[in-house]
Amino acid sequence: MTDQAHSLRRKAWEQNRKATYISVSSGKGGVGKTNFAVNLACLLSQLGKKVLVFDADLGLANVDILMNISVSASIRKYMTGEVGLNEIVKKDNYGVDIIPASSGFVELSNLSDEEHEKLVDIFVLLDGQYDYIIFDTGAGISENVIRFTSIADLVVVLTVPEPTAITDAYAFMKVVHFQYGIENIQFVLNRVDDVQGVKGIFESMKNVARKFLNVELTFLGYLREDKALIKSVKSQKPACILSPNTPYVKDLLKIARSITGQPNGADDSKKGNFYSLIKGVFK
Ligand SMILES: Nc1ncnc2c1ncn2[C@@H]1O[C@H](COP(=O)(O)OP(=O)(O)OP(=O)(O)O)[C@@H](O)[C@H]1O
Ligand SMILES: [Mg+2]
Repeated sequence: MTDQAHSLRRKAWEQNRKATYISVSSGKGGVGKTNFAVNLACLLSQLGKKVLVFDADLGLANVDILMNISVSASIRKYMTGEVGLNEIVKKDNYGVDIIPASSGFVELSNLSDEEHEKLVDIFVLLDGQYDYIIFDTGAGISENVIRFTSIADLVVVLTVPEPTAITDAYAFMKVVHFQYGIENIQFVLNRVDDVQGVKGIFESMKNVARKFLNVELTFLGYLREDKALIKSVKSQKPACILSPNTPYVKDLLKIARSITGQPNGADDSKKGNFYSLIKGVFK
């Protein structure tokens, strides 16, 4: 592409993107981001949407492992120019396209501005092909994590009901707000044993976020603790395929439906509809 064609395309993407970009972050590691991203993608695809999962944990690839995809060309080879974009998109894994990350390349955890721009170009080129592009970010609040958040339409913070995880989720919100001015964040509570307690946890986080950060936290949903998920990780098959009727998948389906605005399977794909739908979640 010539420089001029590229900058026109980039501008068009910035002003009129078709896909909805969803980032999944947590602050604390190991709380369930990758499983959430992968299973959400599968469920959105089952709801008739075209979905791409981008493994934004660039140097510690996990999406390919959870989906049992063999990766010959990953993001590192794309970054070094060894392969083109078509070679890194793994098509149709349980209905979902994947761009896998690389494992064990420390340079990918610390991208320069130019390198990040090269990554963003991937979305400029692929935007029209997808309804949803999901970024599974790494743990922590590194520049890599924050940058993906900054280009998302829906910034999801996923946490578990433990003080350390809640503190890290708060730290994440603080950084994305003060660094990129993000004002709306979607809250997901994972590994829930006590459903009655979810509302209290959300309300206190929402109040703190509003008071100290000026961030509006919206409740996207909760996901129950579920042994089926551990089984699915071991067998490298997404829970939504391996055990679609288990509590985790049922909870996630509610989230997927509210994102698409199809609570009862009706085809109403208006963006933003889910804001009103989640009001019923605690009923
Ligand atoms: N709802 C759940 N019920 C039971 N186990 C869960 C649940 N959610 C996550 N887990 C467990 O937590 C593990 C870590 O999940 P996952 O890899 O998705 O976390 P992560 O946040 O992506 O981690 P990282 O920060 O390292 O990228 C899973 O392998 C699974 O065993
Ligand atoms: Mg992960």
